[in-house]
Amino acid sequence: CGIVGFIGNRQAKDVLIEGLARLEYRGYDSAGIAVLNKGEIEIYRSKGKLSVLKELISDKKIDSKIGIGHTRWATHGKPSDENAHPHKSKRIALVHNGIIENYLQLKNELIDKGYEFSSETDTEVIAHLIDSLYKDNLFEAVKNAIKKLKGSYAIAVISENEPDKIVVARYDSPLVIGVGENEMFTASDIPAVLSYTRKFIFLEEGDVATLTKNSVYIENNGKEVKREIKVIDWNPVMAEKAGYKHFMLKEIYEQPRAIIDTIRGKYSLEEGEIYFGEVDYETIKDIEKITIVACGTSWHAGLVGKFYIENFAKIPVEVDIASEFRYRNPIATNKTLLIPISQSGETADTIAALRMSKKMGAKVVSICNVVGSTIARESDGVIYTHAGPEIGVASTKAFTTQLASLFLFALFLGQKKGVLEKSEIKSILNDLIQLPEKIEEVLKHDKQIEDIAKEFVRYKNFLYLGRHYNYPIALEGALKLKEISYIHAEGYPAGEMKHGPIALIDKEMPVFVLGTKSRVYDKILANVEEVKARDGIVISTVTKGDKDIISKSDYSFILPVTLEELTPFLNSIIIQLFAYHASNLLGLDVDQPRNLAKSVTVE
Ligand code: G6P
Repeated sequence: CGIVGFIGNRQAKDVLIEGLARLEYRGYDSAGIAVLNKGEIEIYRSKGKLSVLKELISDKKIDSKIGIGHTRWATHGKPSDENAHPHKSKRIALVHNGIIENYLQLKNELIDKGYEFSSETDTEVIAHLIDSLYKDNLFEAVKNAIKKLKGSYAIAVISENEPDKIVVARYDSPLVIGVGENEMFTASDIPAVLSYTRKFIFLEEGDVATLTKNSVYIENNGKEVKREIKVIDWNPVMAEKAGYKHFMLKEIYEQPRAIIDTIRGKYSLEEGEIYFGEVDYETIKDIEKITIVACGTSWHAGLVGKFYIENFAKIPVEVDIASEFRYRNPIATNKTLLIPISQSGETADTIAALRMSKKMGAKVVSICNVVGSTIARESDGVIYTHAGPEIGVASTKAFTTQLASLFLFALFLGQKKGVLEKSEIKSILNDLIQLPEKIEEVLKHDKQIEDIAKEFVRYKNFLYLGRHYNYPIALEGALKLKEISYIHAEGYPAGEMKHGPIALIDKEMPVFVLGTKSRVYDKILANVEEVKARDGIVISTVTKGDKDIISKSDYSFILPVTLEELTPFLNSIIIQLFAYHASNLLGLDVDQPRNLAKSVTVE
């Protein structure tokens, strides 16, 4: 989603529409603005492209010097006019990015107080909440409201009672203030307002601020704070990518945040419990088999998902490529749970597999990144990954958030089936919540990966090996390299090497081994020895403290210690960055590789 806000002497609607247009590249499903026109809040919003909104306001006489705007990428509630931001509560209008975890509880409390809801969003809850706390000071009302919010938010609020200010706040969702001459801006992303100012204040977690056209006042935890004004020298193209050279790189770096957003609100560490409100367990409690269908990178996530579900919930799982599934005679009954996995929710083969299974009586719980997409709409339940829009054609953050969803869903099934004790769930969750930090640590290998990629981009073939949880990551490593660097690569379960690929090994065929600590560590070590005995070159990932694989490898990346089940996440970061640097070093179009599409909506 994108937020823009303006207060100054220009026509607010022009600044807002231009700001939203600058965020168009990220994709969205609806857009809207709220302005104060002759002391009254006017809201214009609509589903669809910005052009629809522009059309909507084209014949309106809007004279306003203050307003807020939003492009929405649905998280709660489908894309529709009613769900589009801004949301209004009496004399207040608000735009919001993020996810409010306790919105249902707050909504019920507000309904008891007499508030009526006209949308399905968590955002409307914040609007009514602020209104319910409003006495005569918007800043105080916002401060009190955010105390009650659990989750992530960046908000911008205006009120008819205080027409000379915008109040903003952030927690776990970015928001900046753009400082101008007798004008102030706010935005979720710098590109939105970069054509007006280069001076920015980056709000920090928990900051609440009041903007007037010539002042900024910020508090954190009830005390005034001063935040430095930074001058940004990005050009507009750099700004879209938040300073990263490519969207893919930006998206790789977004993974810790994306995983936090995906697992948010789905567990209680104290209770050792997992929640999936979006899945009606009663309807799937008698299933005897799970079938996962997907394509491409999502299929790789499915392969890991099988191991998670079989390990944690002891339910048999088969994983199928959707285009294969649809043209054989697959078996599904009303005791089958089908899990389609799709970033876009629009992949033709996956949709076909879903429809076939439904006809045979299967229950469908999908894992999707795009709210309201075809797969989401046609499923009985949807688990949304909260990766946010993914623009690079090669999937990265969508993949790891699919893994995170599958991991938690497997724990959920294990809990419901009585396979896992509370204490076990607690201990697993303890590792899971440390994962984002560990991914941050792995991201620090970026430079080292680039250096190693430099030495290897001249090779024509690569072999990726992994076992068990990391066998699908070997497939994904090879796919990533093929997709964006056009270097031929194969991924193999390491134990299969002796049945064929070993014949290819010589010093012209580097072997990428996912060798993190696991129950199959010794087996992988033996595979490394087999490669070395044939003059192969080994690049490996290993766990901190490793002695054996590291000593046999030509190059190694040392990863933090984590639960074996979570090593696919850490290994994914390495293979993603390796493919990224290979492509970039070869001067290729990283974000839009030849012949590939982000979403394959035809067969
Ligand atoms: C295309 C994309 C891949 C993606 C696959 C499945 O091939 O290039 O990155 O993994 O489609 O897409 P989905 O949206 O269903 O996950």
